[in-house]
Amino acid sequence: KSDEIRFDGQVAIVTGAGAGLGRIYALELAKRGAKLVVNDLGGSRDGAGGSQAAADTVVEEIKALGAEAVASYDSVATPEGGAAIVEKAVEAFGRVDIVINNAGILRDRTLAKMEPSEWAAIRSVHLDGAFNVTKPAFMKMREQGYGRIIVTTSAAGLYGNFGQTNYSAAKMGLAGFMNTLKLEGEKYNIKINAVAPVAATRLTEDVLPPDLFEKLKPEYVAPLVLYLCADSCSETGMVFNAEMGCYNRAAVVTGPGAIVGDGVAPPTPEQIQQNWDAINDMTGAAESYNATVALGAMLEAFNPKSESTTPAPKPTVTVKSI
Ligand code: NAI
Repeated sequence: KSDEIRFDGQVAIVTGAGAGLGRIYALELAKRGAKLVVNDLGGSRDGAGGSQAAADTVVEEIKALGAEAVASYDSVATPEGGAAIVEKAVEAFGRVDIVINNAGILRDRTLAKMEPSEWAAIRSVHLDGAFNVTKPAFMKMREQGYGRIIVTTSAAGLYGNFGQTNYSAAKMGLAGFMNTLKLEGEKYNIKINAVAPVAATRLTEDVLPPDLFEKLKPEYVAPLVLYLCADSCSETGMVFNAEMGCYNRAAVVTGPGAIVGDGVAPPTPEQIQQNWDAINDMTGAAESYNATVALGAMLEAFNPKSESTTPAPKPTVTVKSI
C-alpha cells in the first residue's frame, strides 16, 4: 500500500532500548526496515550498575526478525557517551536518520528530602542525555538534510506529580529543548517532537494500578512514535500524550491578558489586583510558534500612544504563549 510507513535504508538510534518502551520502538522500527543502534546501559531502575545483556538481547531479537542492529552500551549521561552512540551508528551503517531519546531512570523523593545527587542524576540522564546524543546526531542530520528526533517528556513534567520535582523539571526541560531545536532544524528538514507515554514498564510497575498495568502495553505508544519518525510526517515542535490507544496533543497556551497602566510608568500591585480576573482569563488562549511571535503580539497589544489612565482596554491582538 502506498501509505504504508517504511524505514528502509534508514538508520535509527533508540536510547534505553534494552527494555520497556525503547525495546518496542526498536523492534517496530526494525520490522519496517530500519537499521538499529540499540543503546542501553543495562543498569537498575535508579540508574545504578550496568550490563551488556539488555542491549544484546534486543539486538538478537531484531536479528531474528531478519533486520540489522548493533548494540551500544554507552551511557547517554555524558558527552563522550552520546558521541560514542552516534559514532556507532555512523560506523556500522553510515548515517543517522532517527534519534529516539528514551533512556530514563527515576529517583523519586519529595523536595524536602531530595539530595543534590538525586536531582543531578535525573537531570543528567534525561535532559543532558538528550543533548549529548542529539547534538552529534543533529550534525549528521544537517549534512544529510534529513532527520527525525523524538524526546520523551512526561505527564509528570507537563502537569506535575507529587514526589518528582527532579524528574518533572528534566522532562519539561526537554519540551524547551524541542521548542528551540524545531527552529534550528527547520531548514534542514529535521523535525523534532515530544512524546509523553504511559506504559507498563519497570519504571511504572509500582506506580500504576495492577488492572491498568496489564492494559498499558508499550505497544500502544509505539505507533505514534513511529508515525512521528516517518518521512511522511511533517509535524514538528509538538507534544503528544500516548497511552492504551488514546493519543492527544498538549500545548502551552497563553490567554489574552490585559493592559494595565499607561505604558509610561509601571503599574502598581493594586492595579494588578484590580485587573486580576482579566490577567488570569484564559478565554481565547492560543499557542504561538516561537518567542518572537509571542512577544511581538504582546508588544503590539500594548499601544504606547494611549495616554489613558482609566481602565485599560483589552488588547485587540491575541497574546500568545512563549
Ligand atoms: P525502562 O526502565 O523500562 O527503560 C528505560 C531504559 O533506559 C532501561 O533499559 C535503562 O537501562 C535505560 N537507561 C537508563 N539510564 C541510561 C543511560 N544513562 N544510558 C543508556 N540507557 C539508560 O523505562 P520505560 O518506562 O520504558 O521508560 C522509557 C522512557 O519513557 C523514559 O524516558 C521514561 O522517563 C519515559 N516515561 C515512561 C513512562 C511510563 O509510563 N513508562 C511515563 C512517562 C515517561
